[in-house]
Amino acid sequence: MVIRKAVIPAAGLGTRFLPATKAVPKEMLPVVDTPAIQFVVEEAVAAGLTDVLMVTGRSKRALEDHFDRVWELEATLEAKGDTDKLRKVQESTHLGDVHYVRQGDPKGLGHAVLVAAEHVGNEPFAVLLGDDLIDPRDPLLRQMVEVQQREGGSVVALMEVPHDQISLYGCAAVTGDGDVVKINALVEKPPADEAPSDLAIIGRYVLSPTVFSVLRETPPGRGGEIQLTDALQTLIAMEPVHGVVFRGRRYDTGDRLDYLKTVVRLASEREDLGPPLLAWLREWLPQQ
Ligand code: G1P
Repeated sequence: MVIRKAVIPAAGLGTRFLPATKAVPKEMLPVVDTPAIQFVVEEAVAAGLTDVLMVTGRSKRALEDHFDRVWELEATLEAKGDTDKLRKVQESTHLGDVHYVRQGDPKGLGHAVLVAAEHVGNEPFAVLLGDDLIDPRDPLLRQMVEVQQREGGSVVALMEVPHDQISLYGCAAVTGDGDVVKINALVEKPPADEAPSDLAIIGRYVLSPTVFSVLRETPPGRGGEIQLTDALQTLIAMEPVHGVVFRGRRYDTGDRLDYLKTVVRLASEREDLGPPLLAWLREWLPQQ
């Protein structure tokens, strides 16, 4: 069955970025000059998933505004003949069909995905987590969609991480050592000495709709939250679950230091900002 729908959980409180996230959703924090969420929606659309459902919560109205039109601003820019800025303003409104649903109770990632059940219906769909940005030059999601179409069941993105970081992620035990592996077990944030591998789940999933019935029966797990990883562990006994091992460029915006690294790295690759930024860094760093 063709995959058309993407679900983006975006109800998190973003407490790691307070006070910036007191009134502004963390998904709206700029990566150079573009809100992180725009990159995620662009990635879904580039993989052919033009129906995007955002699972939001209170104080997330800026997300809806960002993907809507701003007539006054567009008219002003048009009158001025500033086509460059006009294009930037309109970019986010021309992306796919964006829908919104509220999560209500913050009961975890698994619960956020379950809230999408009604919209998704009985077809496979993708889940994209906003804290992970995948470089558009390394089209992971498209590859995951292809694997799902070939193998059926569900597909999870994996990436090898340093052993001392595996406890920050869902972790997979797999068979095979190529780019596509069979997943035998999944465990959410295991202590490093209990982790079955150093393969971490990064925030991209292509899921069979069977996951909804499993999530309904999944009790709260780690942190008292309904964990998507726990539901996928149950799903392994019912349907194939594959992993795509990603070796491309991934940028983390989930905590402050990683966010800063991402901004500097992406700015340094930009034609307009890169050369002056790098020149300044070269001059400034030796003085530190
Ligand atoms: C979530 C998932 C975890 C996954 C991670 C990827 O955790 O529960 O399995 O490895 O996203 O970013 P979170 O980072 O939301 O705590």
